[in-house]
Parts: sequence; C-alpha cells; structure tokens
Amino acid sequence: MTQSSPRGLHTTRDPEIDHVMRLPAEQQPKWHDPARAAAVRAALEAEPAQVAVGEVRELTALLARVAAGELCVLQAGDCAEDPADATPAAVALKAEMLDVLGGIMRVGADRPVLRVGRLAGQFAKPRSQPYEAVDGVRLPVFRGLIVNGPEATRSARRADPDRMLACHTAAGRTRSALEELGRGPGADPLKRVWTSHEALLLDYEVPLVRPTGTGGHYLTSTHWPWIGERTRQPAGAHVRLLARLENPVACKVGPDTTASQVRELCALLDPHRVPGRLTLIPRFGTARIGRLQPLVEEVGRAGHPVLWMCDPMHGNTVKDACGLKIRRLEDIMTEVRGFLSAVRRGGGVCAGVHLEASPQNIAECAGAGTVPVRGPGYRTLCDPRLNMRQAVAVAAHWQQGLSPARPAVRAANP
Ligand code: PEP
Ligand code: CO
Repeated sequence: MTQSSPRGLHTTRDPEIDHVMRLPAEQQPKWHDPARAAAVRAALEAEPAQVAVGEVRELTALLARVAAGELCVLQAGDCAEDPADATPAAVALKAEMLDVLGGIMRVGADRPVLRVGRLAGQFAKPRSQPYEAVDGVRLPVFRGLIVNGPEATRSARRADPDRMLACHTAAGRTRSALEELGRGPGADPLKRVWTSHEALLLDYEVPLVRPTGTGGHYLTSTHWPWIGERTRQPAGAHVRLLARLENPVACKVGPDTTASQVRELCALLDPHRVPGRLTLIPRFGTARIGRLQPLVEEVGRAGHPVLWMCDPMHGNTVKDACGLKIRRLEDIMTEVRGFLSAVRRGGGVCAGVHLEASPQNIAECAGAGTVPVRGPGYRTLCDPRLNMRQAVAVAAHWQQGLSPARPAVRAANP
C-alpha cells in the first residue's frame, strides 16, 4: 500500500493497479476528448462502491462449492446490455428468466444452481475489426453503449467518455432493482442474482478497483468479472488487472488456445490454486469442441481446481443467406453435449453454462420454431440471443450426473 499521494484518491491503492493502465491493452477506444476521459476516470474513482467486498468473498465461497460438486452455475443475459433496460420491470423479467432456466438446470444437475446475470455492467464489447464500411463509408465499429452508439453515422460512432458515467448510474439502478426484488445483498445466496460482466473497458474498470481493507484489492463494478477471448494476453492489462483482484474471475478460451497458454493463464489468475477462484469458459464452436479435452487434462496436471463453464454461443455465430448474424440452436445444443463429454473425460468440473439470452419476444437465433429475420424481432445490440423457448431447450440439455465430484450421482444418473 502507498501511504499518500498528492491527489489523495490513491492513498491506499496498489500502485500495480494503476500500472495496469500502462500495459498493452487490446480493444480500447480512442476517446474523442481525452481530457474529458481523464475527468470521467476521476469521477468514477470518487463514486461509492457498488459491490461490497463481503459479497465478492461470499461468491468465491459459493464457487468453491461448485468446485466440490455441490452446486452448479447458470450465467446468462444480453450480449450487450442497454442502460435503458435498467428499469424495475426489465430487471424483474431478467431475474425471472434466470429462475426459469436455473430451475430446469437444477433437475438435470440434481443440485442447486447459482444464478448469475450478464448485467449491471455488461456494456462494453470487443470487436473483430476496429473499422467497418457501411455503404462505402468507413466508420469506427460500435463498441457497446458505454463507448459509442450503434447507428451507422460518424457522430454516433464517436467514442464519448461521458457514456461511462451514464452506464455506471444505470448499473446502480439495476442493482437497486434487484435489491427491491429481494435478489440483492442480504438475500439467500441461492436466490440472489449475482452480477457479472466482461472487464474490458479499462477506463471504466480501473477507477472502480478499491482496497479490500485487509491489504488486497477488488473490483467494485461487479461480483464476477471475466476476460474475453480477445484480451487474454498473459502480459496484457486485462490479465494483469484481474490477477490482482480478490473477486472470483473467469476467462474465455477459444478453440486455438494451446495447452501452454492455458497453463500460463492458470498460473497468473490462480497462483494459489484456490477452488472457486478461476473459471475457464471455453467457446470453441460445435465443430471444434473435440479440442477441449486435452486442455482440461493439462489444467488437471497443473493442479488448478478450475471450474469449466460452457459458452456454446460465441463459437457458433454464422451469417444466414441474407448476411444476418445468427446462431443455430442445434449447434448450441451439440456444443453443450460435446463440452460435457470433454470435461468429464478430461477429469474437470462441469460448472455450468454461459448463455446470451433474453426474456423478450425475440427472433435472433434459429431453431425451436424461430426463423430470424431483420425486423422488430431482431434487436440485439451485438450478438444474437436465445429467446426463452430456445434457452429452455439448452438448459434442459444440462446434465451433470457424471461429474467426478459426485460419485453417488454418477451411479444414479449414468
Ligand atoms: C461475449 O461474451 O459477449 C464475448 C464477446 O465473448 P468472447 O470474448 O468469448 O468472444
Ligand atoms: Co456476445
């Protein structure tokens, strides 16, 4: 801990946390007004914490129970959250969706299910290209409503730092709505809606890191941050930041991840081999899920008690005949089955599923009677989400009976 600094705000901050801002970082926007971005960072630093350290520790303890095979996890929500959805009615619908899906998984898993929303902070999006051509005009890509707007105009695509403050306020409203529903702090841990998002936008996340009061640091913007597939470089800012935090953390891994990369990520993010600390979220795509088992075995050999969670969405995005970004339910369900088999055979813990899904009446993924078409039913801000009928079909696929952590269940449920 540093003793004091001229600005006062950093008095108990680990200098390593601020050092993160000087490390190489992928996927960061170029703000149109850098001085305003600095002022917004300072304003975020002065905001009260949205999440208390006790909550983060409670979630880690629950995830340790997932590692022990006592519980499993459903993590679901929008690909890109809209701050306009931070209303009591919209939040209640999202909580209800988590309940319905979690209830279905509970039957297949034969154990209680933790409900985790991709919400109260899931605003920033990594993109495969920094620019795109729209009707012959080159525009910066949409990076989530915390950075810019989706409309294909120069002014909408300008990266506006004030959006970070608006999104932080919206995240606070979502938390208040959860609390009003009895799903916030103080609720039964198995009834709570735990919050998670991709810790992508460093100008937002770093100012919201705070001392724990016991010598460590934690991220106050969410219970459970994850690192995306595009920002998991071992020497990069995102990995180094999450390595310093007391929150439980997760990291996506794609189909080209090597055994040595996984080993390195585990060493950085879970150096003390703490059950519940690290979750790896493969998103291989149904065609390549066969590559998962050797990675699970490698992590086992390295002695990290990681949780394996299946993201069957991000490896299965395709374009339909009209060029619309869709995902097929059939591929998603096939990946879930391939995941379960790979993790079980590799001797890992099948922790649960990570879905992009919405309780609204949408038609963005294909299957279960839905054919996605451009129009009012296709309104995601980024990737196509499952509607309730489709998400129910995926949740019903969650069958955890063969988890090595529960031999009694294995015998009953081969
Ligand atoms: C996401 O979860 O929305 C996402 C971008 O995932 P990934 O990093 O796995 O592509
Ligand atoms: Co997505």
